Amino acid sequence: MKFLITAGPTREPIDPVRYLTNRSSGRMGYALAGAARHDGHEVLLISGPTTLDVPPGVDFIPVETAQQMYEAVRDMLRGVDVAILCAAVADYRPVSCADQKIKKNADTLVLELERTPDILGSMRSEFGFTGKLIGFAAETQNIIEYGRDKLQRKQCDMIVANDVSQPGIGFDSRENAVVLIYPDHEEYLERDTKEHIAMQIIEHATILPS
Ligand code: PMT
Repeated sequence: MKFLITAGPTREPIDPVRYLTNRSSGRMGYALAGAARHDGHEVLLISGPTTLDVPPGVDFIPVETAQQMYEAVRDMLRGVDVAILCAAVADYRPVSCADQKIKKNADTLVLELERTPDILGSMRSEFGFTGKLIGFAAETQNIIEYGRDKLQRKQCDMIVANDVSQPGIGFDSRENAVVLIYPDHEEYLERDTKEHIAMQIIEHATILPS
């Protein structure tokens, strides 16, 4: 099977030296790419900036902004059987990027932000993707309810929900604990290394009902 996996954070520029980003290390997405490749699948990893090595045998497109990730995913969907969107895409970006470094002349600075493109939400409606679609949900409360809402609104086959308020799992940690949310049931994957969680997610992904 052919997998497309997104990973890491995005960086949304404020001026030539500053940007908005988040705490995603990319570990979860890179572990998914490594696990899918290990199982013999063809894998394309599209990632925001991280310090990680690309797993051997995995095709790789580095991106920086949400817009670049949106365009890379849109342009690379041909032949993809399973798309897993694990990236922590910035939801907002500065309306404009200053040409020069912003000087600290005032005591306060107001940044005007606008929404970034919703990659997961575009997969079915705009990109016409017909393969298996797996989204992530990073929640701090009502994990199942919010995850299930995403499953329906974004027309996913499965949502991998994680509680990012728990210390030691989620963003920028070596372990995770997730709930796989299907249209008709949930399955809990107990706390484990991201590599072990990834292996289980890939197993579930390959047997998703059509
Ligand atoms: O990178 P690590 O340090 O290993 O951390 C892993 C993780 C916590 C980042 C990962 O497990 C995770 O939860 N990824 C999703 C993070 C996220 O942005 O969740 P969300 O609930 O805000 O977004 C829901 C889904 O929409 C995700 O599939 C996301 O990739 C996608 N999205 C979000 C915004 C946007 N503009 N476009 C999108 O496609």
